[in-house]
Order: sequence, then C-alpha cells, then structure tokens
Amino acid sequence: MRTPGARLSFRERFLSACARRPVDRLPVWMMRQAGRCLPEYNRMRERFSFLEMVRNPELAEEVTLQPIRRFGFDAAILFSDILVVSEALGQSYEYCERRGIRMAFPIRSGRDVGRLSEGGFSKRTAYVRQALRGVRKALGNQRALLGFAGSPWTLAAFMISGGSRIEKPRILHFVKNQGEVFENLMEILTRAVTVHLKSQLEAGADAVQIFDSLAGLCPRGRYQDLSGRWIGRIVRRLPRRKPVIVFVRGYREGMRCLGGWKTAVIGVDHTRSLFRTARALPRTALQGNLDPAVLLCEPEAVRMKTRRIARYGELRPGFIFNLGHGVPPNASLENIAAVVETVRSVCPFRG
Ligand code: CP3
Repeated sequence: MRTPGARLSFRERFLSACARRPVDRLPVWMMRQAGRCLPEYNRMRERFSFLEMVRNPELAEEVTLQPIRRFGFDAAILFSDILVVSEALGQSYEYCERRGIRMAFPIRSGRDVGRLSEGGFSKRTAYVRQALRGVRKALGNQRALLGFAGSPWTLAAFMISGGSRIEKPRILHFVKNQGEVFENLMEILTRAVTVHLKSQLEAGADAVQIFDSLAGLCPRGRYQDLSGRWIGRIVRRLPRRKPVIVFVRGYREGMRCLGGWKTAVIGVDHTRSLFRTARALPRTALQGNLDPAVLLCEPEAVRMKTRRIARYGELRPGFIFNLGHGVPPNASLENIAAVVETVRSVCPFRG
C-alpha cells in the first residue's frame, strides 16, 4: 500500500532518512505514541495493568499497532518499557499511575548489585521478541518497526533511585563514593542492553532507539565518562547494517562528542536547535524535536510550529520528524493528526 504520489513505502522512507538518502516526503513518528493519549489504549487499561500488557505479546502487539491505525505513522515502536531490562536482571518493579514506578529494592551497595543476575536474561525477555515477531507479521514490509532500550546511565539512575522519583544527589553520591560498584553495575547493564537490542533486531526490528532520557543528570563535563562511553560500546557491538538512533535528553555539552558513536541517527530534544546540532554532526541524520507541549495548543499553532521544525528537512537529507520527548497523556488527538498531516505537506530536500 502506497499513498498516491508517494514513491517509497513508509518503511523505505524511514530507512532512507536514517541513511541520509533523499525521500519523497518526511517520515514521522512520535516517542510514546503508544499509550495514554489514545482512548483505545485507555479502554484496554481498564481491563489490564500496564505490566500485564507489556508482558503479554498479543496485548503488546495490539497497543503497538493502535497509533499506526489511527495516525498512519511511518514507524511503529514496540509497546514495552526500558525497565524490563532491570527486571530481567532481578530488580522487579510495579507501576501505579498515582505513585509512579517502584522497584523491589534500590541499588545502594555492591551487595545490591550482587543480587542482579545475567544468567537467563534472554529467556526472561522472550516475550519482547515474541511481541516483535507478531508486530512484524502484522506490518509486513510496509512500516518500519523500532525496538528500544534505555541507556545504561538512564537505567542505573532509575535503579539507584529505586523507582521513578529520581534522586539526583543520591545518584551522584553513589558515582563519587562507590566508583567500583558503579563501574560494575554499568558493565552489567551495558552487556544486558546489548543483548536486548541485538535480539530485537534479530526478531524483526528494522532499527533500535537507545533512550538516554536522563542524560541531563550528568554534571557538566562528565557526560562522556558517565554515559557516553557505555553507549559507544553498545553501538559498536550491534550489527552495522541496521540503524541505531540515540535519543539524548537534556544534554548540556558540545554536540560534537556525540559524533564519536558513529550512530546513524541522533534524537534531539526540544531545548536544542536542529541547525546547530547539524553543524556539529554533519554526517549524522537527526530526529526531533517539536516541543511536546505544543500538542496542548490550538491546532493553528500546532501547524505553524510543526512547519518551523519541518523546514530543517527541506534543507538537507537525513531527517525524521518526531517530538523532543514523549507524547503527553493529555495531548489532543486532533493535534497529533495535524502534526502528521503538516509534516506530509512539506517538500523534503531531494538532492
Ligand atoms: O514510545 C512508545 O509509545 C513505546 C512504549 C514506551 C513506553 N515507555 C510505554 C509506557 C517506551 C519507548 C517507553 C520508554 C521509557 N520508559 C522511558 C524512556 C522514554 C522517556 O519517556 O523518557 C522511560 C524513562 C521509561 C520508564 C517509565 N515507564 C516511567 C518513568 C513510567 C511512568 C511515568 C510515565 O512516564 O508514564 C513508565 C510507564 C509507561 N511506559 C507508560 C507507558 C505507556 C504509562 C503506563 C500507563 O499509565 O498506562
């Protein structure tokens, strides 16, 4: 199925943009597109808990497909969670809307790290691959399918905090005073994330995204040491032929350092300028970066702000339209549709 006038399938368009090849129109998807902004998701949530849906391949497949059916995004992202990696290592968690995420125990010492176990990791995450295979079958070759994982740093921050109430002073104290334990934790997480992403690519994902959502917690000048070098290790161990997107949120250092990963795509948050990022990373495709808060404005403002970001894609190849962070739960559906329609009306760079 191709839309009239379109030369590429949705999947080809997404993959061409990752490879910085010209496209017939700009590809678009949104972080957190599968979830609470959708009434069909909320209806399912009345019957199942969040984690039940994550762990059940049929339910996860259904939620993954919901935003594709409703908005026709170029790429689907698997409905899952970054903390499934921590859970499979032995730190289980619960989620409740009121209190957020609570992990069974926080990581506070070498003994806590010792409670994590890498043995059986693949088996305990088999449901993720099963869901991906189901989605791949449903999508055929038409839409791109993304797998994902949290970065080791972002996962460590949740694991040390013991949940979604992030305790920055405690994390930085841990890094400073328990350097060896921290290093050991990061080694474990780096291996687990690598296995997790590789297995998603083998199960049918076209590309994977690494979420470094808590990059902004790193003190100035420390990003490369605390987070970047671990991401670099993961990227080097993944197959070269499939694109890796690294989304770095709240990053405050020179963008040039992000070029060291030689990753296909960098996801840019809405506090950064795409143009300035491109100057530092001329050989990297970019993804981003509409402020998610725009989805709460009037549709006319949504169109105007979308056009402003999409202009970047008019001027050079290698651009995937996205938000600068996830879709807010109270985003208006009309506004999401307006973004997709506006992005598609823009004429991209054609070489
Ligand atoms: O993008 C997608 O639509 C795919 C699904 C997806 C979810 N989480 C579903 C989800 C993805 C890619 C994630 C990644 C994720 N999970 C991140 C990185 C991205 C980001 O937003 O920065 C993080 C930090 C998490 C951990 C997590 N999961 C938190 C902190 C929370 C609770 C608060 C919140 O942000 O919603 C979750 C729960 C969660 N993950 C929900 C969904 C749809 C909400 C569940 C519900 O209320 O039904």
